[in-house]
Amino acid sequence: MNAQIVKSQQFKSQTDTLIIGAENFPKEILLSEQEQKYLTEQLKKKVDTIIFNRYTHKIIVSDLQYSKIKNTAEAARIAGASAVKLLSDNNNELQIVDSKDAKSSLFAAEGAVLASYKFLEYYKNPDKKASKLKTISIVSKTISDAEIQEQNNLNEAVFFARDIAQSPYAKLNAVKFGKLISETGKSAGFKVENLTKKQIEALQMGGLLGVNQGSDTPPVFSIMTWKPENAVNKKPLIFIGKGVMFDTGGVYTKAYPHMNDMKLDKSGAAAVSGLMLALAKNKIPVHAVALVAATDNAVDAKSYVPGDVLRMHNGMFVEVLHTDAEGRLTLADALSYADKYKPELVFDIATLTGAAAAAIGTEGCVVMGTADDKHFTILEQSGNEVYERTVRFPQWDEYDKMLESNIADLKNIGGTEAGAITAGKFLSHFTTAPWIHIDIAGPAILKSTDAYRTVGGNGFGTRLLYKFVKNYIEKKSK
Ligand code: BES
Ligand code: MG
Ligand code: ZN
Repeated sequence: MNAQIVKSQQFKSQTDTLIIGAENFPKEILLSEQEQKYLTEQLKKKVDTIIFNRYTHKIIVSDLQYSKIKNTAEAARIAGASAVKLLSDNNNELQIVDSKDAKSSLFAAEGAVLASYKFLEYYKNPDKKASKLKTISIVSKTISDAEIQEQNNLNEAVFFARDIAQSPYAKLNAVKFGKLISETGKSAGFKVENLTKKQIEALQMGGLLGVNQGSDTPPVFSIMTWKPENAVNKKPLIFIGKGVMFDTGGVYTKAYPHMNDMKLDKSGAAAVSGLMLALAKNKIPVHAVALVAATDNAVDAKSYVPGDVLRMHNGMFVEVLHTDAEGRLTLADALSYADKYKPELVFDIATLTGAAAAAIGTEGCVVMGTADDKHFTILEQSGNEVYERTVRFPQWDEYDKMLESNIADLKNIGGTEAGAITAGKFLSHFTTAPWIHIDIAGPAILKSTDAYRTVGGNGFGTRLLYKFVKNYIEKKSK
């Protein structure tokens, strides 16, 4: 179980404590004259983190105004993540104090919990590897129990997404993924339907089937539905996650070390699964559907090969000229399937192109599409709030010629340039709904831990989409 945030009525004097803002120093803590002097000096120097080691516990003062990060919520999350590293031996609780009218302690708690995540499946003694942090107690009069519960549920959802992303292929292929979300849906209260290979064939999802040809495991098309009676939208929001359980590249096989992270090619599926868990647990009044066309991209005598032409779910034909451009083939079928819902808005989220990662690195994700500017704006604001930031790329008509095939409607690769954009352009042919494409190839995969964003698959996208939904609802009900 992930560390839980709780509200505390009373300041505890023997517990590791993070104080947000020196002006909020609790009267219960007595500083010696020397300590007081030290604190004043450090603050004068604009030091953002000041630590008093009291042997049984530490007192950490974080002054967010001196943080390098100008976004206060994010500075608080990072302060929370740093405090987890400083936890005293044998301590499993972090107490957070801030001013009466501030919410920073909740952001700091979020950072602390997310930083305490560890994927523990593969240690002989997992207890030794696990974070000691069990409880974060917030001393605050303004943060409600409901807000804390919501944050706990969201944290759990991010952990769920991280676990999905991190699981090795042997542990989580398409069929096992379908089972996992079925179970999760049952306990959290969202509906899950898993279409079998027979049903996928009947739907003529040639993209998903083409990619799956080389695999030992059948494809699974998962449909997760959250539709509470008080939903603010009649037409659903749809969230499609790229679920390539492992991407070898196909017969154009990826070379070392580029294949090593490719269990993380299901990070989009992880993000939307986490989103559905958070929506259901927090009973968010939205009609939302998540779709995952799950398969691996394997090498085998039966694998699809360059020159093959696939008949897609929407009736278009695609010439395969690169077996490693598989994600767009699976997403295309999910996008055209989504049309039948007449959705208000469709998202797809995918570790789609190395080009997106090359363009902006791990600091944010690349977005593009045909949705209203107002929806892109809500997404951008949401991204700034949760610090999973977005940058919009163009979808100019001129790029379309890069996808022209000599023998079919489209080919599955563009040219050597603008790879993230042509991948998006390819997808645009498979949806008639207002649509936003999110390429998370950069931020979904971290080589090392960055504060509360943990190494490997870090669940990028769950918090972004959850915040989008919340802001969308708020705008709608105004
Ligand atoms: N899953 C990869 C994209 C990727 C690369 C994600 C690195 C995360 C890190 C995708 O299936 C892929 O292989 N894309 C190719 C497309 C190309 C063949 C047009 C790429 O980006 O090189
Ligand atoms: Mg690939
Ligand atoms: Zn891929």
